[in-house]
Amino acid sequence: MAGSAMALVRTPEQHPAHAELLAGLLSVPKTLPSKYLYDEEGSRLFELICDQPEYYVARTEISLLASIAAEVAHALRDRSVLVEFGSGASVKTRLLLDALPLLSAYVPIDISQSALSAAALAIRGDYPRLNVMPVLGDFTRHLTLPTTIDGRSIAGFFPGSTIGNFSPSAAVDFLARVRRLFGQGSKLVVGADLAKTPRVLVPAYNDAEGVTAAFNKNLLTRLNREFGANFDLGSFDHVASWNAAESRIEMHLVSLVRQRVTLLHRWLDFAAGETIHTENSYKYSPVAFARMAAQAGWSVERRWISDNPEFAIFALSAD
Ligand code: TRP
Repeated sequence: MAGSAMALVRTPEQHPAHAELLAGLLSVPKTLPSKYLYDEEGSRLFELICDQPEYYVARTEISLLASIAAEVAHALRDRSVLVEFGSGASVKTRLLLDALPLLSAYVPIDISQSALSAAALAIRGDYPRLNVMPVLGDFTRHLTLPTTIDGRSIAGFFPGSTIGNFSPSAAVDFLARVRRLFGQGSKLVVGADLAKTPRVLVPAYNDAEGVTAAFNKNLLTRLNREFGANFDLGSFDHVASWNAAESRIEMHLVSLVRQRVTLLHRWLDFAAGETIHTENSYKYSPVAFARMAAQAGWSVERRWISDNPEFAIFALSAD
C-alpha cells in the first residue's frame, strides 16, 4: 500500500514542467522557456500585441501574404495537406486556404488548447469541405501528424517569425525534423523577420500601451497560479533590448529590488537589476536564412520581401 501511495508522489525533478522551470530559474543568468507565455491569457494578449502600432511584424506579414497569396499557392500546388506550426488564431491561414481551393486537409498545431479549438471551429465553419485535424502539442519537443495523412504530399506553413524564437541551432534542428517528417517533395512556407534598425525593432517589443509588458509579465502570473510561486508583479519590469552581436531582440523581466521568491519549495534570490531572460526574437538577412534552411536540407525556391519594414516569406522545397 505504501508503495502505491509513494508512486503518486513526484519530486519536482520528475515532473517535466517543474524540472524545466527550475532548471531555468536556478541557472545563471535566469531563464524561462518562452512557450509558457502562451496560456489562454497569453494567447489573448498576443492577439492584442498584433494590433499595436509598433508591432509591425504581424501586420507586415499579413499584407505581404495577401499580395503574394497566388504566387505562394503556385509554389504549393498539388500538395493536399496544409500543416501549420503555431497556428494561434489562424488569421494568416485563411489567406492561403482561399488561394488553395484544392486542399483537402488542414492540420493546425498549437500549444494553446483555447486558441486551437476556437480556430478549428472557425475554420471548419468557413471551409466546410476541408478536413480540419487539430493537433494539440509543443512542436518544439515532439512532431506528430495524424496517421490519416500518411503518404500524402504536405505543405507546411510556419508564419509569424516564430522560427526567430528558436536559437539558430534549434531552428536548423527544427527545420531538419520537419524535413524528415514531411519527406521528399514537400514544401514549407516560412515567415521570418529581417534585421533592421533598433529604432524600429525595440519599440515593436515594448509598445507604449504596455501590452507586450503585460504579455511578458503574464509568465509570472502563471507561475503564481499554476506552480504556487509568489512573484510580486509590481517589483518586476519588462525590458526589450537589441543584441546586435546575436542579431536578436531579447526580452527580460528585471527585478526592481533585491528579493526572494519561492517556487516549488525552492528559494529564488534576485539581486536588484537581475533579469529573467524570457524570449529571443532573431532577425535575419535573407542570405543567413537561406544558409540555415540549406543546413536542414531545404532549398529556397522563392522568396518575397515586403517594403520597409522588411519582412520575408520563403517558399522552401525538399528535393
Ligand atoms: N515570433 C514573434 C516575434 O518574435 C512573436 C513573439 C514571440 C512575440 N514572443 C513575443 C511578440 C513577445 C511580441 C512579444 O516577433
